[in-house]
Amino acid sequence: MQDLIMQIFNDATAAISTAQTEQDIEAVRIKYLGKNGELTKILKQMGTLSPEERPVVGQLANKVRQDIEKAIADAKGAIKEKALQLQLEAERVDITMPGIKHKIGGLHPLNIVLNDLIDIFVSMGFDVGDGPEVETDYYNFEALNVPADHPARDMQDTFYIGNNLLLRTQTSAAQIRTMENHKPPIRIICPGRVFRSDEVDATHSPVFHQVEGLVVDKGITMCDLKGTLEQFVHEIYGSETKVQFRPSFFPFTEPSVEVDVSCPECGGKGCHICKDTGWIEILGAGMVHPKVLSICGIDPEVYSGFAFGVGLDRLTTTRYKISDIRLLFENDLRFLEQF
Ligand code: PHE
Repeated sequence: MQDLIMQIFNDATAAISTAQTEQDIEAVRIKYLGKNGELTKILKQMGTLSPEERPVVGQLANKVRQDIEKAIADAKGAIKEKALQLQLEAERVDITMPGIKHKIGGLHPLNIVLNDLIDIFVSMGFDVGDGPEVETDYYNFEALNVPADHPARDMQDTFYIGNNLLLRTQTSAAQIRTMENHKPPIRIICPGRVFRSDEVDATHSPVFHQVEGLVVDKGITMCDLKGTLEQFVHEIYGSETKVQFRPSFFPFTEPSVEVDVSCPECGGKGCHICKDTGWIEILGAGMVHPKVLSICGIDPEVYSGFAFGVGLDRLTTTRYKISDIRLLFENDLRFLEQF
């Protein structure tokens, strides 16, 4: 019987040493030490031994049992350790690899200039408003004193959506919406996208941007218009910049002016940017036409006001010395990343 026990010991340890997985080891444990395992069977036969043999065989059987249990525990530990090593190896991170750089977005140059412009007017007490890009004929033309047959419509042909809806040609539509909804005093600017059926070239685009300004109160005069716009120009272009007001015509303002600034490129001497005139036109303005005030239910005998429309694209291209307006719309990152 002692030989048999030693045989079991040898078989079991041999099986453990070739086991690859925890399941293999478990199978060995069940085969030798399980309820019906081979060593267990031997121990069950102890009763058949003589009293002299029993303690000797019993001791040996117990020793073998312990040895097998220890071999099983060791083998399980080794297998776990090996699995862990394999996993660590597979998940190894090469910390010398260059990292992935996350790109941080920036503001579009139009938005940088717009934000500056908003800051300037907000500091002068203006609110910032908004209007729809798809406008009715009434708000874009009719209420601005441009009836259906008015020649001023020729210069502002646009994209029509049916008879009555169009893509707005000017942010001036916001003047009407503002005056309909607010009683004076009014001080508001409305930035936005406008549309005209224009050919695309270095200075024209069918989609561009304006910022409309409107002030209505008692006793507003042309002096307020000039002072406000001069202040604005000096903050945007620097206090050395000269401002020139030229008489002009807009159906919704009377009198009307066009405002030029001394060319920021050549300082007024004349260059290709200002087409040798020394001046660059940046906005149209004027005293709100009494008819327009009346249309909006504001009594022109009591109130007066001025309005202006700044071309944001022109402001941006002159400020950053951008030679072609198309660069503002192409979204080429090599261009945009410079701001
Ligand atoms: N809306 C005019 C244009 O687009 C500009 C303007 C605005 C003129 C407000 C006077 C007052 O040409």
